[in-house]
Amino acid sequence: MEEEVTDAEGQIPQSPINLGTSDSLYENLEHIQILACGTSWHASLVGKYLLEQLAGIPTMVQYASEFRYAPAPLTKNTLTIGVTQSGETADTLAALDMEKRRREGLEAEYQPRLLGITNRPESTLGQMVSQILETHAGIEVGVAATKTFVTQLVVFYCLALDLANRRQSLSPSRIEDIIASLRQLPAEIEQLLEKQDRHIEELAHEFAETQDFIFLGRGINFPIALEGALKLKEISYIHAEGYPAGEMKHGPIALLDAKVPVVAIAMPGTVYEKVLSNAQEAKARDARLIGVTPINDQEAAETFDDLLPVPSVEELLSPILAVIPLQILAYHIAARRGLDVDQPRNLAKSVTVE
Ligand code: G6P
Repeated sequence: MEEEVTDAEGQIPQSPINLGTSDSLYENLEHIQILACGTSWHASLVGKYLLEQLAGIPTMVQYASEFRYAPAPLTKNTLTIGVTQSGETADTLAALDMEKRRREGLEAEYQPRLLGITNRPESTLGQMVSQILETHAGIEVGVAATKTFVTQLVVFYCLALDLANRRQSLSPSRIEDIIASLRQLPAEIEQLLEKQDRHIEELAHEFAETQDFIFLGRGINFPIALEGALKLKEISYIHAEGYPAGEMKHGPIALLDAKVPVVAIAMPGTVYEKVLSNAQEAKARDARLIGVTPINDQEAAETFDDLLPVPSVEELLSPILAVIPLQILAYHIAARRGLDVDQPRNLAKSVTVE
């Protein structure tokens, strides 16, 4: 948790973020549950981190397909968020519908409070849920959905900051600082794309024949390790696993040898040294180590065999930058293997039938 600060008069300061949602969603809020699939599920895990660490609200993230058949016990004053970029994924819609129905008719504090996060407010989700946060990413063609993933993350930052303001779990100046840093990210992403694309393409050529990858991250970047692995699977058809770096020693370490590259997300902050030491354990098993690290980080340069450098930002904001080189890497490996990066086999952009 970050510092807890109330303003001098004990009043809730006016929120610098106006999401346009109804205040009734947030009254006496005690729990948040998030339902999603695939990439949207990974964005939701970053959302959980933000909602818990910035706003102090216990948050659960469930695969929509699991929630449908084993819903969590009902809790009071609970906000249910459905996250789907297309607004058409059948499992996510069905899970939300089920949640709405099982709460209707119960006492006031158990009444459904539904919020949707989507790139398509005109979708089925938009018709089903009256409170929508739109990601404004534009049309998403690729299955390697970088744009929509990043904008889903931005929506979660805004929601967590709005709630942190309402609950006074962060000071107004800290909220302003985070917003100012968020505003700098588009320029930093452009810089990253301009400077790193060629380098990542060259690196990708070395992995065209690789059969297995491991992605490691911790804390707020653990979901980014999952997303890096998912993208590689989806568009390159390479087996990849994402793990919280501290779990590597409890099983996946058995897989490691010179043929299995390990990509570690090592951004300075609370878990930085831990990730570097987990990466070193992999190196001791001859794994080729690739680090997503800040530009000009000497300690990281000494640890990793190859670098995917990103501009330096505080750890809290680092997922938005860290995911970019991972998705470019997956893209270039797929292109090198001669695959259709926009329409991978067996996958649809939105899954409407099971
Ligand atoms: C499909 C796609 C995935 C996507 C998932 C959720 O399975 O292949 O890439 O992450 O649906 O999509 P949604 O539109 O609900 O975010």
